[in-house]
Amino acid sequence: MLAPLQGLTNRAMRALFVDWVRPDVVFTEFMRVSNVSRKRLQRNDLKEAASTTGNVPLVAQLVGNHVESLVAAAHNAEEVGAQHINLNMGCPYGRTTSGATGGALLKKPELLADIIPALRTAISGTFSIKLRAGYNDPEQIFSLLPLFEKSEVDFLIIHPRTVAQKYAGSADHSITGRIVRATAIPIIANGDIRTADEGLRILEETGAAGLMLGRGAITDPLLFDRLRSRNPREPTEAEMANMLSRYLSDLLTRYCELFCGERQILDKFKNVLSFIEIPTLSIEITQMKRTNKVADLTALIEALQ
Ligand SMILES: Cc1cc2nc3c(=O)[nH]c(=O)nc-3n(C[C@H](O)[C@H](O)[C@H](O)COP(=O)(O)O)c2cc1C
Repeated sequence: MLAPLQGLTNRAMRALFVDWVRPDVVFTEFMRVSNVSRKRLQRNDLKEAASTTGNVPLVAQLVGNHVESLVAAAHNAEEVGAQHINLNMGCPYGRTTSGATGGALLKKPELLADIIPALRTAISGTFSIKLRAGYNDPEQIFSLLPLFEKSEVDFLIIHPRTVAQKYAGSADHSITGRIVRATAIPIIANGDIRTADEGLRILEETGAAGLMLGRGAITDPLLFDRLRSRNPREPTEAEMANMLSRYLSDLLTRYCELFCGERQILDKFKNVLSFIEIPTLSIEITQMKRTNKVADLTALIEALQ
C-alpha cells in the first residue's frame, strides 16, 4: 500500500504510482473532519475522495474526534464514490484547538468505544484504522485490540512507534509481529521500510498481511517493484539516476496540470524533493531545490540521465 502523506500523495502523485508500479491500495492524504460546519469535508477533499485510480482501491482517510461528525463525513465521502474509509489515529501533530485528533485520540481511549463501532455501522465498504503502537506506551495497542475485533474493523495499519516519539528512533517491528500473533485482524506493517530487503524481512518476521510504504516510496517509487522482484533489489547509482530522472520528469508534468501557476507548482514540487534521500544524488537534488523556474528545473531533471 502507498501510505497517506499530507502534502505529497495528492491525486497527481497517486496517479504516477498507479501508472508506474500499481500499488495494491492507495490512500488520500488525511481529510480533516469539521465538528462545526455542516459541510464536514472540504471541497478539495471530496474531489480527492472521488478521484479515480485505474481500479486500484482508493482509501479515503478521515481525521477527527466527534462521532456524529465522523459518521457524516464518512457518508459524504461515500456519496462522492469512496468505497473504503480509514480513520487516522497516528498523526502526532494534532490540532489542539479542535481537541484530540489523529494520534492524540490514543490519549482518550474512552472516546474510541463510541467512535469505532459508530463508524463501522455507518461505512458500507471496508473500514480500517491506521495507528501508532500507543500514545506513550507501545503496549497500549494490545488493550485496544478487543474493541477493534468486536467492531469488525477490516484491517489495521501499524506504525510501531509511540505518538509521543513522533519520528525519533526507529519503528520497532517486533511489536508488529506480536500484534499479528495477538489478533485475527489483518495487520499491515508500516514504518521505516526503505529497501526491498528490509520490507521482505519485516514481512517474513512479523507475518504481516502486507506492507505500507511512505517516505521510502517517495524517494524511490520503484521500491514497490523491487519488493516484487520486478526491478533490481539493490539498484546501482546509474539505475537510481535513471529512476529519478523518469520519476521527476513525470511528476513535474502532472504537477503542472494539477497546480496553478509557477510559484505553486515549484513549492509543491520542492516539498517532494525535500523527502527524497539519495546520497549519491544529493548535489543534484539541492540544485533543483534552488531553482525558481520550471524551465530550469526541467533542464536539471534532464541532466540526471
Ligand atoms: C510528510 C508526511 C505526511 C504524512 N501525512 C500523513 C497522513 O496524511 N495520514 C497518515 O495517516 N499518516 C501520515 N503520515 C505518516 C505516514 O503515512 C507513515 O505512517 C509514516 O511516515 C511512517 O512510514 P514511512 O517510514 O514508510 O514513511 C505522514 C508522514 C509524513 C512524513
